[in-house]
Amino acid sequence: MLTIDELATFCKRRGFVYPSCEIYGGMSGFFDYGPLGVELKNSIKQQWWKSHVQQRSDIVGIDGSIITHPKVWEASGHVANFTDIMAKCGKCGNSSRADHLVEDKAKIPTAGMNTSQLQELMAKHKIKCPRCGSDVLKIAQPFNLMFKTTVGPSSGKEAEAYLRPETAQLIFTDFKLAQENARLKLPFGIAQIGKAFRNEIAPRDFLFRCREFEQMEIEYFVHPNKIGKCPYVEEFSSYEMNVLTSEMQKKGGDEHKKTKVKEMLDKKLILPWHAYWLAFEHNWLASLGAKTENLRIRQHVQEEKSHYATDTWDLEYNFPFGWKELEGIANRSDYDLQQHMKASGKDLSCFDPETNTKVVPHVVAEPSLGVDRTFLVFLFDAYEYDSKRENIVLHLNPKLAPIKAAVFPLLSNKEELVADAKKVYDELRKEFSCFYDENGSIGRRYSRMDEAGTPYCITVDFDSLSKHDATIRDRDSTKQARVKIKELAEILHKLLSGKMEFGSLA
Ligand code: GLY
Repeated sequence: MLTIDELATFCKRRGFVYPSCEIYGGMSGFFDYGPLGVELKNSIKQQWWKSHVQQRSDIVGIDGSIITHPKVWEASGHVANFTDIMAKCGKCGNSSRADHLVEDKAKIPTAGMNTSQLQELMAKHKIKCPRCGSDVLKIAQPFNLMFKTTVGPSSGKEAEAYLRPETAQLIFTDFKLAQENARLKLPFGIAQIGKAFRNEIAPRDFLFRCREFEQMEIEYFVHPNKIGKCPYVEEFSSYEMNVLTSEMQKKGGDEHKKTKVKEMLDKKLILPWHAYWLAFEHNWLASLGAKTENLRIRQHVQEEKSHYATDTWDLEYNFPFGWKELEGIANRSDYDLQQHMKASGKDLSCFDPETNTKVVPHVVAEPSLGVDRTFLVFLFDAYEYDSKRENIVLHLNPKLAPIKAAVFPLLSNKEELVADAKKVYDELRKEFSCFYDENGSIGRRYSRMDEAGTPYCITVDFDSLSKHDATIRDRDSTKQARVKIKELAEILHKLLSGKMEFGSLA
């Protein structure tokens, strides 16, 4: 498998992702998306929004503010609890995350460990500063990960605010308004895509752990008396995932086991709503190109759970640096709404016409997916070095591909071919993101597009002039078919949406 550094190099070379502000030396934990990257990232978000919000009748969206009232984060528990434990080098001043040092050097899982447990392990395993190698590493106080800012001209305490460390809290603070405006009836969800910020002690692994990132989150609310029954879980009964429960981990195991949703429910390993959302998310990722052998669901062990969670399962991906969280799906119960009711004095309960009662609903599942991590997953699983082509091919799902079609004249020194190819390009780019290229041999042009993940290349050749057709080439098979130019847009629509197989054209 490609390493994360190799992927970062590829991303920079092809214009997917750059280190932010590189001309000034860059900033650790911040990245910019280039011309191909922004298209891929936008497509991921569009696909998510379509399938999680627009195609469902039980979920609506919001778009909350990034800079948020400090009371939100006091009520949510983030001011008190959203911390990591830092190890600081007494010689060179380098800061590291103590849990990561212990995990990397001593190969011991550290979930939920406190300061003194980490201190003890660092001493026992003689862990040294990863930068200068000195052994004067000291555990500092827990470090709060929230970025603070000031609002308005004053710099006093009253002007303090936070950049949100999760999009979730805006869903809770807007809960009542959104529920009433959209006339939502339980069970329902509120979704949001947006930036979040965490002042990571030591960002690492390219886009995996950044200080500025984007989330796609849903809070799914259910009547407190109905949390044990999910009307949708049946459709996933025979859906299979790689499963690692907290029980398996407690027995020292870290090998997952392929398990059907039905078996998980029968054995009472998970509540039905939680199982439904894990399967729904897993299926969404797989439908867009994530390889199921690289996905697993892992239950948090007791000590690892966030302060708000009663049960959490991570949808993990097998990154080159190990199985890591791609998406966290927590059961937050009524923790957040209760906290905000207490802190604001506002009633955040809602009326349930079915039971004729006012209730504070429970969040049975909070699917919280990182856009940037999803971007990595789709790239890793699409990337192939094709030794026959002697070229990288990105087998991205056409729905995600940054460029949907490229248009070439067979030869760039033949005016009539260039003119016709440009006409085709001008028509197609009204509907798709397209790329026109007349530089280099036709083979080089195909290779460049394979590397960009472009699913279809259209070439105008000499036959096109008399027959008003063009060749269309399929990225994955390299097969070609001739199609009428006037039918190209319709055919592309069908190919890109999966309504037509390329093979049916030949
Ligand atoms: N809202 C959950 C998270 O950001 O991890």
